[in-house]
Amino acid sequence: MTVKNILFAALAASVLVGTSGVRQLRAEENERVAFPHGYEAGVHYATVNRGGIREELFASRAAVEAAKQGLPLPEGTVVMLEDYRQDRLYRYVVMEKRAGWGNAYPEDIRNGDWDYREFRADKTPNPAEDGTRCLACHKSQAGNDFVFTYDRLRAAR
Ligand code: HEC
Repeated sequence: MTVKNILFAALAASVLVGTSGVRQLRAEENERVAFPHGYEAGVHYATVNRGGIREELFASRAAVEAAKQGLPLPEGTVVMLEDYRQDRLYRYVVMEKRAGWGNAYPEDIRNGDWDYREFRADKTPNPAEDGTRCLACHKSQAGNDFVFTYDRLRAAR
């Protein structure tokens, strides 16, 4: 092995280690957003209808107040979206923001300190959804703290 080859092998090894490190963090990541029992006590700030889908959205009073001031939502914020199909609860999707949670993600997919989780109608997490799609689509809303319905939060009573 030439010196160049040894250097290359070392570099390749460190890249591999780095990658698996990220994977492991991602797996832990998905255990982090727990089902937010009691969310209904917060503010029901919007209903979104699209075709046969009805979405009911909830957030905390503190999140509404922050949005009214045009601020990023406070640490600890949970946004709940109940997803009804033909008027039957189909699933829940949840986003939650905790200091440092974004550190596990590479910058190109990171959504600040938000993380995402889908729960089935029985409130258990859906293991088939690892959150990558959520991050990718919500990234487009970086200017609104990654929340599509930020203006609806703002307008809430
Ligand atoms: C293809 C784009 C896309 C993907 C993928 C996506 N979302 Fe969203 N999400 C939206 C849009 C658009 C809204 C606004 C409500 C609407 O128009 O239906 C929204 C709204 C939300 C809200 C309410 C807060 C807000 O941003 O308005 C939560 C919570 C949420 N999504 C969680 C998730 C989770 C969890 C996942 C992954 C399982 C996910 N989303 C995947 C587009 C997406």
